[in-house]
Amino acid sequence: MTVGSIGPAEVSPIGTTLERHLLDRQRRMPEATGDFTGLFQQITLASKIIASRVSKAGLSGILGLTGKTNVQGEAVQKLDMFANNTIVSTVEAGGHVCVMGSEEIEQPIPVPIQYPQGKYVLQFDPLDGSGNIDINASIGTIFSIHRRISPDGTPGTLEDLLQPGRDIIAAGYVVYGSSNMLVYSTGVGADGFTYDPGVGEFFLSHPDIRIPDRGAIYSINEGNYHNWDEHIQRWVDWIKTPNENKKAYRLRYIGAMVADLHRTLLRGGIFAYPQDVKNRKGKLRLLYEANPMAFLVEAAGGAASDGKNRILDIKPKELHQRTPVFMGSPSDVADLLRFVGD
Ligand code: AHG
Ligand code: MN
Ligand code: MN
Repeated sequence: MTVGSIGPAEVSPIGTTLERHLLDRQRRMPEATGDFTGLFQQITLASKIIASRVSKAGLSGILGLTGKTNVQGEAVQKLDMFANNTIVSTVEAGGHVCVMGSEEIEQPIPVPIQYPQGKYVLQFDPLDGSGNIDINASIGTIFSIHRRISPDGTPGTLEDLLQPGRDIIAAGYVVYGSSNMLVYSTGVGADGFTYDPGVGEFFLSHPDIRIPDRGAIYSINEGNYHNWDEHIQRWVDWIKTPNENKKAYRLRYIGAMVADLHRTLLRGGIFAYPQDVKNRKGKLRLLYEANPMAFLVEAAGGAASDGKNRILDIKPKELHQRTPVFMGSPSDVADLLRFVGD
């Protein structure tokens, strides 16, 4: 029989919770006020509420369309608006943000004047891949945080939202899949947490995610082949054909950027949504899809390009701006760039 003793934190039997991870980070930054940690806790709470509702989607009679379209002209499913409203109402009264931007809301979302106007700017895609809801496939929430550039204490502005991705101070996503996972980064390294529904907490399960330099998977909607320009067609022809230097890459496409990029972060390879004759500027949105995911991919050692420029260097002009997206393992993105640079 062994006699137990109270040991140091590193032998904690409970593992590292997301809250503990955030507090450890805050303690390492003497200038930190706790605002960032507070905002993150509100986002986490919103994601738990969304996860709970998503897991009951088939039961609660909330599947289907609201009958409305979002600002992109796409049909909005009820869970999209539920997720949007959950994030807004969880965050707006917390005193940490001054303005928000969401895929589902055409204009900047102000913080009501009865609440403090905080120092951060939050952008989000409340549910990414919402076409997957009705077939019980993975979906997710994507978000980024900037520091405000407008004067402290005043309502936030559109300019606060139109900051380049390189000025993001933290970004993350939650993927609602066979388990629910939250991955976040504050710029160097990315850490992944798996949700334990019995406890109601995210626990560190994937510390310091590093994307492999090269993968063996390409992820693209190949049904658009005949709408692509010849550079993209040639690249896809090349990547799926074995030659003396490489095997054929395998194709995987979930149809939710958040889930396709989650796999890409862990396994390597490349995710692409190029421009095509229908989507001349690409389909994915710069501010709340491409930028947060590019920030995470780069933080994990990957690369993210629009085919010409680093995504994080694009200066946004509009809240719902679209961009072509090529991101993943650095060597796989470099190969792609050789084709589109022809
Ligand atoms: P959302 O559900 O937020 O509108 O995003 C869907 C996006 C993205 O997640 C995915 O990569 C892409 O649309 C899939 O588009 P296609 O169906 O055109 O391949
Ligand atoms: Mn999306
Ligand atoms: Mn969405």
